[in-house]
Amino acid sequence: MQIMTSEASIHTPPSQDIQHQCDVLIVGSGAAGLSLALKMADHCSVLVLSKSDRNEGSTRYAQGGIAAVFDEHDSVEAHVADTLNAGAGLCEEKAVRFTAENAKPALNWLIERGVPFDTETDEKGKERFHLTREGGHSHRRILHAADATGEALQITLNDAVTAHPNIRFLERYNAIDLVKSQKDNGRCTGVYVWNLTRSHVEVIKARFIVLATGGASKVYQYTSNPDVSSGDGIAMAWRAGCRVANMEFNQFHPTCLYHPQARNFLITEALRGEGAKLCHRDGTPFMHRFDERADLAPRDIVARAIDYEMKRLGADCMYLDISHKPAEFIVKHFPNIYRKCRSIGIDITKQPIPVVPAAHYSCGGVVTDFNARTDIENVYAIGEVAYTGLHGANRMASNSLLECVVYAAAAAKHILKHLNDPCEEETILPWDESQVTDSDEEVIIQHNWHELRLFMWDYVGIVRTNKRLERALRRIQLLSQEIQEYYAHFRVSNNLLELRNLVTVAELIVRCAMQRKESRGLHYNLDYPNLLPEPKVSMLIPNHQKQQTEPGTLGTS
Ligand code: FAD
Ligand code: SIN
Repeated sequence: MQIMTSEASIHTPPSQDIQHQCDVLIVGSGAAGLSLALKMADHCSVLVLSKSDRNEGSTRYAQGGIAAVFDEHDSVEAHVADTLNAGAGLCEEKAVRFTAENAKPALNWLIERGVPFDTETDEKGKERFHLTREGGHSHRRILHAADATGEALQITLNDAVTAHPNIRFLERYNAIDLVKSQKDNGRCTGVYVWNLTRSHVEVIKARFIVLATGGASKVYQYTSNPDVSSGDGIAMAWRAGCRVANMEFNQFHPTCLYHPQARNFLITEALRGEGAKLCHRDGTPFMHRFDERADLAPRDIVARAIDYEMKRLGADCMYLDISHKPAEFIVKHFPNIYRKCRSIGIDITKQPIPVVPAAHYSCGGVVTDFNARTDIENVYAIGEVAYTGLHGANRMASNSLLECVVYAAAAAKHILKHLNDPCEEETILPWDESQVTDSDEEVIIQHNWHELRLFMWDYVGIVRTNKRLERALRRIQLLSQEIQEYYAHFRVSNNLLELRNLVTVAELIVRCAMQRKESRGLHYNLDYPNLLPEPKVSMLIPNHQKQQTEPGTLGTS
């Protein structure tokens, strides 16, 4: 049985009756989910889900690092000012301040857990953290573990989680939907999950549910993100009745490797922080023509400049050159990128790197407060899935891992305060499959996956127009209808579940983009090239009546 969607009544008697139970269910095992698990586990039973292998998520691929004020010449005020500036007038200042003020404690917590951030020796022979620089930051502010910070973080946190007796891990479990309480008390009682190994649906009951499912950049054809980033948490929360905001601000990272064997591989912004320059094939630099900060301008400006130059010159890519730096320096600071490029025949100590922009980060998401609470009382959202107000119209580099850890701490504090609140026991009906059969045409799902991601790239990408957005919306409505029918008649599969979420997220992105009658930060619409004087968050509010009667229409109000 599926709750809260128009298909709900179609699936009836139970096929599987496996139920799990815990105090806190954390859906997602990246920086956000694992940080929270560690903060809760001494106090209650914790269950962590991952859709793929436990270490697969954006966290693992993060290169640049995590922002926090460690330099004596830097200040929390400067971190706040830089974040507000990058966010193009749309950050919520309180959220920015909250995050910047909590950055150092968050980093100290990670350091205590053993994350091996790079250090150096200062002039007086004392060891200190090596800080790198990225676009939008006025100071060296990024703690990092060479150019593979995410992997160091993921492994350290995962080792600690694995060793903790109160944490259970279920790998290869895809959360399908939140189950609303039948008592109409505004709570959720658990989650339906698809067990990928056994191909059936199970039930997890929990007193507190935390969405830590990461972003939605997989909705675009070209992305730096791993496959799991299909916006599941955003779609689940939306279906359950939570508001989402600012979905039009999908960040495109300016520099992903352009090579047939390595299209998703990121070339960290820290390379530009250490002096790399963007240039044409003949070596001519161009960023100074677009912004006085040149190669260290915020990401939206750099990605648009690359897109503009590629279109103007009819080029397949631009180039990023750090070969003027000593080879020893390059190999020491960027060993991962050096090795990867070397493996496909590019020596970055001698040659420029071919690069293109790719979808990288979802600035919008499920609306949360300073306790990471969503609109549903016992459901929280942390990490990239959430909209906290921190990023505004454009996330500043290395603020997102920080947000994961800061808001995991905030959620933990709030849940701990309410851990012993009375809570009525409720049963959850098993998943019903009596009226569905095995899918007979998997090709439809494959086709719709490709179609959706391609038109999102072409019509809802770095540069948008009203016509392109309208075209995209028409296609989304048609796809939604097909997917809904498919979902109602056939057994679920991982691809179908992800596609169902992706089409919802695509519609949320397009609806937010259509609401915005200006160009701001990451959202650039040729029909509205100017800024409006009053910055306004794009807020979408679910309307269930409409959602149930008109497939493909989100029912916003
Ligand atoms: P993720 O790490 O993406 O984890 C999501 C988890 O949710 C996974 O375990 C996944 O299996 C699980 N999941 C998803 N859907 C379901 C479902 N339906 N059921 C069960 N489980 C589910 N940020 C920085 O601050 N600094 C950087 O240097 C940096 N570099 C980056 C480089 C790359 C290549 C990328 C892709 C991102 C980078 N970012 C960086 C962004 C940052 O890595 C992410 O925003 C952050 O890691 C998100 O963490 P998370 O815990 O929210 O989600
Ligand atoms: C990078 O290393 O360029 C990515 C940093 C980020 O996305 O925050």
